[in-house]
Amino acid sequence: METVDLDIKLFENHAQVDSTLKMVRQIAGDLVLFGEELELIAITMNGKPLTAEDYQQQAGTLTIANAPDEVVLEIQVRICPQTNTALEGFYMAGSGDETMFVTQCEPEGFRKITFYPDRPDVLAIFTTRLEADKRYPTLLANGNLVEAGEVADAPDRHYAIWHDPTNKPSYLFACVVADLDVLTDSYTTSEGHEVLLEIYAKSADIDKCDVGMQALKDSMKWDEVNYGRAYDLDRYMIVAVSQFNMGAMENKGLNIFNTACVLSSPETTTDSRSFSVKAIIAHEYFHNWTGNRITCRDWFQLCLKEGFTVYRDQSFSADQQSSAVQRIDDVATLRAHQFAEDAGPLAHPVRPESFVEINNFYTTTVYEKGAEIVRMIANTLGAENFRKGTDEYFRRYDGQAVTVEDFLSALSITDSKIESFIDWYRQPGTPMVSGHQYYDHAAQTLTITLSQQTRHVSGFAAPKPLPIPVATALFDKDTGDIVAERMLLLDQATQTFTCENIAREPVVSLLRDFSAPVQLNEIIKMRFGIFAQT
Ligand code: SER
Ligand code: ZN
Repeated sequence: METVDLDIKLFENHAQVDSTLKMVRQIAGDLVLFGEELELIAITMNGKPLTAEDYQQQAGTLTIANAPDEVVLEIQVRICPQTNTALEGFYMAGSGDETMFVTQCEPEGFRKITFYPDRPDVLAIFTTRLEADKRYPTLLANGNLVEAGEVADAPDRHYAIWHDPTNKPSYLFACVVADLDVLTDSYTTSEGHEVLLEIYAKSADIDKCDVGMQALKDSMKWDEVNYGRAYDLDRYMIVAVSQFNMGAMENKGLNIFNTACVLSSPETTTDSRSFSVKAIIAHEYFHNWTGNRITCRDWFQLCLKEGFTVYRDQSFSADQQSSAVQRIDDVATLRAHQFAEDAGPLAHPVRPESFVEINNFYTTTVYEKGAEIVRMIANTLGAENFRKGTDEYFRRYDGQAVTVEDFLSALSITDSKIESFIDWYRQPGTPMVSGHQYYDHAAQTLTITLSQQTRHVSGFAAPKPLPIPVATALFDKDTGDIVAERMLLLDQATQTFTCENIAREPVVSLLRDFSAPVQLNEIIKMRFGIFAQT
């Protein structure tokens, strides 16, 4: 797909969507477009109207056999946002005075707007014209505003044209037709680019947008400092919507948020809720690089964008407040929800290998365990090498749709063992770590033996040992000083680690900062070394 021109006209009880798709053949075979709940009015290919013999329409697809290598498809469909209750595609949110129309296209909602190769690896440049009654003064779509005005011969109607210069998959398309107020601000990026920032909400809510605006500016700065990533468009818009399925959505330049995840006021919002608003603003902003500019080759790679982005928003939050409190909160959530998922009938790998409905995989395993894998890699590499790896990831894959393997390959430029973390993406179940320790007075050594075991989840291959970074510190019993600190990498079923020159029996602290998403059993203190016993 090279370019997509959309013209969406919203009427009282339906919408008409005209699309012009400019496509060039990449591989041999039929041209397959996805489409659901669309009424096809007309379709032409390279200027010639197609009749029902020229294409095949089946449940969910429209197939054109023998398409030329370069085609311009012009498709007109009718959709009905007013009766779309799936909160997916283009739908009506709210009623009466509060009626507004918004989109949710991740993962496969765009096919409810028009026929399209609705897959995340199909990237295109979108231009969107929106037309509606003037009752809805707010007309927004991705990118930069090119033009707005009155509709000739229809005094009650107006339009706006938006152009997004970045190549993007259809799941990042968004548009909004509403009557909203806006809080504006601006931010100058590290590259000297001035960006207009806007948060749109119902007028009654506009005074609850300041926390979100500050969080947005803090996130923009944080990503420049910590990952060298600056924002790329002239505008960044956030829209608060009361009927929204997900928490929020990172549509390119036009985030759509559930009001619960963006509105915050000191009078009515608790501190913890306000922290979570900031974290979600940061999460969606960080997706601009991890998700949007580098996207997923297919939906199996959902954890690629979500795991990394959750790790980034957790790190941002840790920098904004007490990092220990943040870590305790994140681990408490992981253990309460993800561990339970991994221990029950819904256990699945961070990267599933098959799905019937990808919507069912927006899980704590994909998000939170996915973030823990990135954290383990970051801790194993150390800050400097992790940054080298992420710089390499952005350098290599900007503008592409990639896989978890690509991610690991970039991160492993300073250390090839990082590639072995792929097994964490493949294997369900929470590993259990147990072991024993023995202090040998005569030799002045401490020996720590650790074993790992993961339950066999039915339907998956027999579990194998994973690389488990166990952050370890030895403390002096009396002074509390740290005598030694090591990152032990447990990557066998059982492994023994020896610390030498330990003058006195220390207090051992394992899995510090919860360095891996595992259950740690009590480590048994041996009075005699096992080797001495035999
Ligand atoms: N992609 C969205 C998000 O995680 C879906 O909730 O931000
Ligand atoms: Zn996300």
